[in-house]
Amino acid sequence: MNGYSIAVVPGDNIGPEVIAAGCRVLERLQDLGLCRFAFEHFPWGAGHYLRTGRAAPEDLVARLRPFDAIYFGAHGDPARVPDRVGSRELMHPLRQGLDLYVNLRPARLLPGVPSPLRDPGDIDFVVVRENTEGEYAGAGGRVHRGGPDEIAVQTTVVTRRGAERAMRFAFELARRRGGKRHVHCVTKSNALAHVMELWDETFALVAADYPDIRTGKSHVDAMSMYLIERPAAFDVIVASNLMGDILSDEAAAITGSVGLAGSANLNPARSGPSMFEPIHGSAPDIAGRGLANPLGAIRAAALMLDWLGERGAARLVDGAIDATLAAGHPRTRDLGGDAGTGAMTAAVLDRLDAPHATAPHR
Ligand code: IPM
Ligand code: MG
Repeated sequence: MNGYSIAVVPGDNIGPEVIAAGCRVLERLQDLGLCRFAFEHFPWGAGHYLRTGRAAPEDLVARLRPFDAIYFGAHGDPARVPDRVGSRELMHPLRQGLDLYVNLRPARLLPGVPSPLRDPGDIDFVVVRENTEGEYAGAGGRVHRGGPDEIAVQTTVVTRRGAERAMRFAFELARRRGGKRHVHCVTKSNALAHVMELWDETFALVAADYPDIRTGKSHVDAMSMYLIERPAAFDVIVASNLMGDILSDEAAAITGSVGLAGSANLNPARSGPSMFEPIHGSAPDIAGRGLANPLGAIRAAALMLDWLGERGAARLVDGAIDATLAAGHPRTRDLGGDAGTGAMTAAVLDRLDAPHATAPHR
């Protein structure tokens, strides 16, 4: 039985609630004799900021580097701490410092989950979001604070190397998925000429190495429409950091609920741990009441298992999630039901114990 060290960073508000659910699922896999986990918890986020003046210690990257993987909840507590603190001191240092250059965000409309779209078709695509630079590079600042001459500058950074490695990942993924074999490039080179022209040129260069994969390209504004009008047409979508952030929330909405979506922040070179998290935020409005949908966090745990090479365990968890949704109950409030986090988690755990009852995973 293989063993893995997992750094657990639950974060704020519903983060700890959904991560506790995901850890219960992983512990159940351990009880079933599939793999072992040594969890270490890092209570970073808003509470840490209020206690220490920082959302996480300055050496956070060095502290998490030795782990096999990082399991992350959600950060943010805007009533007590400015939002940028957690991003600047916790999330971005991990994504950049551990070189987690791909943020993989699968979007699949599952049986039993209604889409808000009238005629969604068979939605099954993955957003590959560049995750270390672009609009989130962190370059910029503010001067003459508070005065009439105040200036704020936030520079988008696109490097040929950064764009190329995310795009290569997207093409390799399209090959591995073996479905529509299509990569769609999201751009905005009609307005952001410097950075997005380099992005588009890099896409064309990378695409030339994959003659077996079809390609498409849209400006992000049009893309936000196409995801509503014909989401089933897409397979792999590659986008810059902010554009991928926005489109992946839209992708979550059209596939039923942001509460269902998991994501993987990957270091494809495997020079360190990768990080797995639900894509939803910390949801202060429902925190502490046991109402959060844990399935996004549990799906993120399945992505983690898959990345660790535990494909059988990953499929078991994916199947348990899919079967729970297909059954139509229990359902959390984001899915129109009134079940809580505990009931939803218990339903998944039950199906892990009786895997023959789970629906086959595509
Ligand atoms: C996400 C989140 C983060 C992001 C926020 C919390 C900084 O929206 O992971 O998608 O924008 O990357
Ligand atoms: Mg987001």
